[in-house]
Formats: sequence, structure tokens, C-alpha cells
Amino acid sequence: MQTESMLNAVALQGKTILVTGGGTGLGRAMAVAFLQAGAQVIICSRKLEVLEQTARELHAETGGEILPLPCDVRFYEQVEGMVAAALARFGKIDVLVNNAAGNFVSPTERLSHKAFDVVTDIVLKGSYNCTLALGKHWIAQKQPAAILNIVTTYASTGSGYVVPSACAKAGVLALTRSLAAEWAKYGIRSNAIAPGPFPTEGAMSRLFPPQLAKQLDPLKRIPLKRFGEQQELANLAAYLVSDYAAFITGEVITIDGGEWLYGAGEFNHFDQVPNELWDALAQKRNKE
Ligand code: HXC
Ligand code: NAP
Repeated sequence: MQTESMLNAVALQGKTILVTGGGTGLGRAMAVAFLQAGAQVIICSRKLEVLEQTARELHAETGGEILPLPCDVRFYEQVEGMVAAALARFGKIDVLVNNAAGNFVSPTERLSHKAFDVVTDIVLKGSYNCTLALGKHWIAQKQPAAILNIVTTYASTGSGYVVPSACAKAGVLALTRSLAAEWAKYGIRSNAIAPGPFPTEGAMSRLFPPQLAKQLDPLKRIPLKRFGEQQELANLAAYLVSDYAAFITGEVITIDGGEWLYGAGEFNHFDQVPNELWDALAQKRNKE
């Protein structure tokens, strides 16, 4: 496993990158990787204090330029205001990373009707709002750009117990592919990353609370037998938004240690069969 920065220190030089939900978790890890590769970074979310603290830490860690801006991505006017403030500071934005999300686990029949709205408003509407505001700007300015959407593996498969999130992420995946086709003519690329479990405070506290984690060990579902390292996802993100990936658009890259495929393959659980049983089956076959 390699947990160093993958790109060199100038691979993203001259690029300005907006990361929604960039104050915590995977958004923060991607911001670090972008700064280390020479980009200027804007992080936005609802909690300004968290963003400011992260910006101080990232500046100390990388020496890079980072602008924290409060913005609730559910509200288009706030997104427009945030984009205007970022443009006032940096003059341009080259890359949008739609990373902000909300999620929780629950049997669907126990959800209040508002629970669907709260998750889809952040994930799907929030991604659409940011994409639309920046897309209009890029197209008017004739500026090439890149969008990277952080979805999940169940954006493609669906998943019980996270139905609002599954619906929202599937929508974001559709947005990714739709705009890859529609906006290629403007030089705008659109890709997605589908992570499996990466331990972050935000995800683990909501999706694997201790009472559940005791009974349902998520590690057992991952054939590579470990969780993802945040740096691994950050390296992939840095590559996808860089000019090294200039011919990649409309793609979704899974980074999950083989988890979803393992769950899908009909006979994959046969790896629980001990060697002795395979030996016994072979002996029986040889006798026949
Ligand atoms: C069931 C819930 C709930 C829960 C909230 N609701 N939490 N329902 N189980 N645990 C319902 C409430 O009942 C309420 O409806 C409605 O949702 C709104 O709840 P609020 O608490 O008022 O919402 P808000 O304060 O806006 O908070 C939004 C949030 C919160 C999504 C609920 O968790 C949040 O801020 N999350 C941001 C970060 C986050 O979720 N990160 C994890 C991403 S991980 P009523 O009708 O009762 O008012 C991820 C990884 C996936 O996506 C893949 C992993 C492998
Ligand atoms: P996280 O730390 O909880 O990140 C979510 C971020 O979204 C927070 O910084 C939060 O900040 C922000 N946010 C929430 N609502 C917002 C809103 N209305 N407007 C603006 N920002 C908002 O969780 P994470 O694990 O790093 O998740 C990051 C991304 O990876 C998400 O898209 C998630 O679905 C995806 N993902 C994670 C995993 C995993 O295992 N960690 C797996 C698959 C996919 P505020 O609270 O300050 O607004």
C-alpha cells in the first residue's frame, strides 16, 4: 500500500479547485492532496468554524493557499454567493468536487418523509446546484474545466437501509454521465469516484454506530481485508482532476477493495469452504 502523495508538487499548479464538504473526512483529504500538487483550494460547507480550523491546519501542513467559505449547497443563492466570493479571490475556478453529503442507516419504513428530502437535498440537489452555477460560468467564459462527483458503490447497485442516499447517489451518477456527454463540447469533463468504506468520523458515526458495528463487521465484506486509506482516494481524485486524465470523461471509478463485486458474485462466498472439504470433494470425484 502506498500512502504518499502520488502526483508531483506542480501537477496541479495554476488550478483552483472547489471541494464541497471540504472541512472534514474525505473532502479534507482530497484538499490536502490538491494543495500538495500545487493547486489553490476552496473548501465550503455549513460550519464556518470547522472550515476555518481545517484551512489553518492545511496551510500549516502544506504552505498552500486555501479559502474557507460557508455555504449550504441545498440553496442555489448560497452557492452563487460562494462561487462569486471564490472568483473574487482567485479569478477562476477550474475544478468542482461535489463531495458534500448527508446519510444515515434506517429501515425505510421507519423514516419520516422529511428524511428523504434532507439527504437528497444535500447530495443530489446540492451537487446539481454547484454544477449548474459553475457550468453556466465556465460556458460563458469558454473555460475548460473538470467536475468530480463522489458517489458510492451502491449508486449503481442500490442498497437497503440507505434508500435516500442510494437514490441521491444514483442521481449524481446519472448527472456525471449525462454532462460528460452534453458538456464535452465546452471542454468540461465529468467523472465520479465510487468509494467503499473509508473510515471517517462522519461516515462511521452515522453508518456503523458501535451497537451495529459489533454485530456486522464491515471488514468481513471486503476481499482485500482492510478499509481504504484516505490518501488512496485522494490520489485517485488528484489524478482524475489533473490534465493527466484529460481523455477520461463520463467514467466512474470504484475504489473499494473488491467489496461490491465480492457481494455480487454468485459463488464468492465459497472462500469459506475449508481446504479439507475441497480435498474430500476431489477424492470423491476421483473415485467416481
Ligand atoms: C432516521 C433520521 C436520522 C437517522 C435524521 N433523520 N437523522 N432518520 N435515522 N439517523 C431524519 C429526521 O427524523 C428528520 O425528519 C430529517 O431526517 C431531518 O433531520 P435533521 O436532524 O433535522 O437534519 P439536519 O440537522 O439537516 O442534518 C442532516 C443529516 C445529518 C443528514 C441528518 O446527519 C448531517 O448533517 N450529515 C452530514 C454529514 C454526513 O451525513 N456524513 C456522512 C456521509 S457518509 P423529521 O420528520 O423527524 O423532522 C456517506 C457514505 C456512504 O454518504 C457509504 C459508506 C460505505
Ligand atoms: P463527512 O466527513 O461527514 O463529509 C460530509 C461533508 O459534507 C461534511 O464536511 C459536511 O460539513 C458537508 N455537508 C453536509 N451537508 C452539507 C450542506 N447542506 N452544504 C454543504 N456541505 C454540507 O463524511 P465523508 O466520509 O468524508 O464523506 C465524504 C463523501 O464521500 C460523501 O459524498 C460520502 O457520501 C462519500 N463516501 C464516503 C464513504 C466513506 O466510507 N467515508 C464511502 C462512500 C462514499 P458541514 O456539516 O459543515 O456542512
